[in-house]
Amino acid sequence: MKRKMILDCDTGHDDAIALMVAARHPDIELLGVTVVAGNQTLPKTLKNTLNVCDHLGLDVPVYGGMSLPLVREQYVADDVHGESGLDGPVFGECHKKAEPLHAVEYLINTLMNSDGDITLVPVGPLSNIAMAMRLEPKIIGKIQEIVLMGGAIGLGNATPAAEFNIYADPEAAHIVFSSGVPITMMGLDLTNTALADMKVIERMEAIGNKAGKLFGDIMRFTFRSQAVNGLEAGPVHDVTAVTYLVAPEMYKTQDMFVEVDTNRYGPGYGRTLCDANDRFHKKPNVTVGLAIDHEPFWDLVENVLRRHI
Ligand code: BDR
Ligand code: CA
Repeated sequence: MKRKMILDCDTGHDDAIALMVAARHPDIELLGVTVVAGNQTLPKTLKNTLNVCDHLGLDVPVYGGMSLPLVREQYVADDVHGESGLDGPVFGECHKKAEPLHAVEYLINTLMNSDGDITLVPVGPLSNIAMAMRLEPKIIGKIQEIVLMGGAIGLGNATPAAEFNIYADPEAAHIVFSSGVPITMMGLDLTNTALADMKVIERMEAIGNKAGKLFGDIMRFTFRSQAVNGLEAGPVHDVTAVTYLVAPEMYKTQDMFVEVDTNRYGPGYGRTLCDANDRFHKKPNVTVGLAIDHEPFWDLVENVLRRHI
């Protein structure tokens, strides 16, 4: 049976590839794509999402969502993703339009009408998901699970303490992490190892279709911009959350208690405090990704890209 999922993203380089994988993996039924502000402002992340769908002929409904975080001021990642939020690839005129419904309403309607068999895969700040949970708390019992990209056991990338997706809306992250929904978290400890080096880039380009070329255009740009984080190539962070749904055996994980630091005035604002050594003796609320098996991971990505135009 296919896994039903909704991708919640702030497209974004790695978000674009996550979307490519989610849209064409044979074991995934991508019901919809909800978009949030994050890597760039909402008009830009929405435009990037529509461009990717239009370019690859992806017939999936796209919904615009929260343009601002719940409490903090807006924080974007233009140092990594550029002025457009998806600098590098060039797209033609876009014919695809966003659906008129707000992403938060779409999430609520779809979950409430479901049999509890939908997984949410948020790969941006958690503003849409948290807002939906506050507007209609009954959705909490309807979400099968949440597999997200965000946080870290160790160092952050937005601040020494905080990973970007959590730092960009810590209060939303707190709502989601404390909701009681089963959560799997792909944090930087794992995602910073999923690096698209030149060998990977050339391998995907060699597929010879539009998707392989788009992967190359995206990751060649990311390859350069990642110097910001001291990495040798660009990580495809968000992709690891999507592939977990269909190939969890590729991952090493550990269940633990995780809490988001929402102290706005402290240096740890936006940190995911991961109690890996069980110092708090609290019930684990998150399955945290520790490591990924790189060979099957890139095989999976290549096989999905081959299914595109
Ligand atoms: C996360 O932040 C964004 O820049 C990426 O798209 C990814 O979701 C990595 O910290
Ligand atoms: Ca993202």
